[in-house]
Amino acid sequence: MAVKITTEYMDMLNKAVEREFGVAVQYFLQHAKMEKIKKREIPENILLDKTVYDAVGKILHDISIQEMKHAAAIMERIYYLGGEATTKGDKPVTGDTISEFAKLGVVAEEEALTLYRQIIDVAGKMGDWETRELFEKIYGEEEAHLFKFQEYTSFQDEKEEPYKVPMPEWRKIFTQDYYDLLNKAVAAEIAGIIQYTNQHEKAAFLELRKKTTALETVTDTNLQGVVSKTLKDIFMAEMKHLEAISERIYLVDGECVTKPDPLPKVGKTVIDMLRLDHALESSSILLYRQIIAEALKRGDTATRKIFEDIVVQEEEHFWTFDDFVR
Ligand SMILES: [Fe+2]
Ligand SMILES: [Fe+2]
Ligand SMILES: [Fe+2]
Ligand SMILES: [Fe+2]
Repeated sequence: MAVKITTEYMDMLNKAVEREFGVAVQYFLQHAKMEKIKKREIPENILLDKTVYDAVGKILHDISIQEMKHAAAIMERIYYLGGEATTKGDKPVTGDTISEFAKLGVVAEEEALTLYRQIIDVAGKMGDWETRELFEKIYGEEEAHLFKFQEYTSFQDEKEEPYKVPMPEWRKIFTQDYYDLLNKAVAAEIAGIIQYTNQHEKAAFLELRKKTTALETVTDTNLQGVVSKTLKDIFMAEMKHLEAISERIYLVDGECVTKPDPLPKVGKTVIDMLRLDHALESSSILLYRQIIAEALKRGDTATRKIFEDIVVQEEEHFWTFDDFVR
């Protein structure tokens, strides 16, 4: 007999998903912020510091991807145990300097270690060996993250000089309402990332549980499997979008939001999922057109180009989903 799963147990696993998503976004946005910090650095240190800044940017990127993979692996386990994986994420805090990134990282990783020790213990007592093994593996990786961040907590950041000259004319286009508009795109990309990762795991699970029809045995494909793979590819594209948009916002001195909007939705069946994804892409396309028009009006060519590239890809995503839901 399979292990009996309680609601409290499921909640605990979902708590782990929430924090994995939270830190994945946190480190990813910090990685995007590094692009700007790098540009602000004092030239005489260029040989020395460039390497540190680049290295930390890469560390943050790689750890962020690992956290996404943790979230995905835990969600996969939740679906196997018959639960529903959450689409909530803890609220990330980004900070502004390498030492701040590192200190926030230390706090987050220590929280993870505490929670995961508890999960390993409970999973062991319940005889849920698979979950225990999964968290033992993740635990080792969180420990490595903690040690990495600890190395940088006392990093001497360059003090950012306040502007001595008045704001140059060309920068006056970056007003709060413009940042707010651009941040709608950040929120939409985060929504896509969470929605598609979750659905990718759920579709893979539905594929596993499904009886194979005669045709599928011959063609070796089925809808669940195809959708699961498609979602993974699209999810990777959304990560690139989030990177490009957030880097741009930070570069022009804005701050990024860290919460998804619209709220990610998963759906019961694969067709439900595809309908939700179809709608999400549609709303993104409308929003990005609006951003392109606004960027054009303000003469913000760099931002406009970024969104022109992205909107082409969102349209491709839309048509991919459209093929399935028609
Ligand atoms: Fe993690
Ligand atoms: Fe971690
Ligand atoms: Fe996107
Ligand atoms: Fe998309």
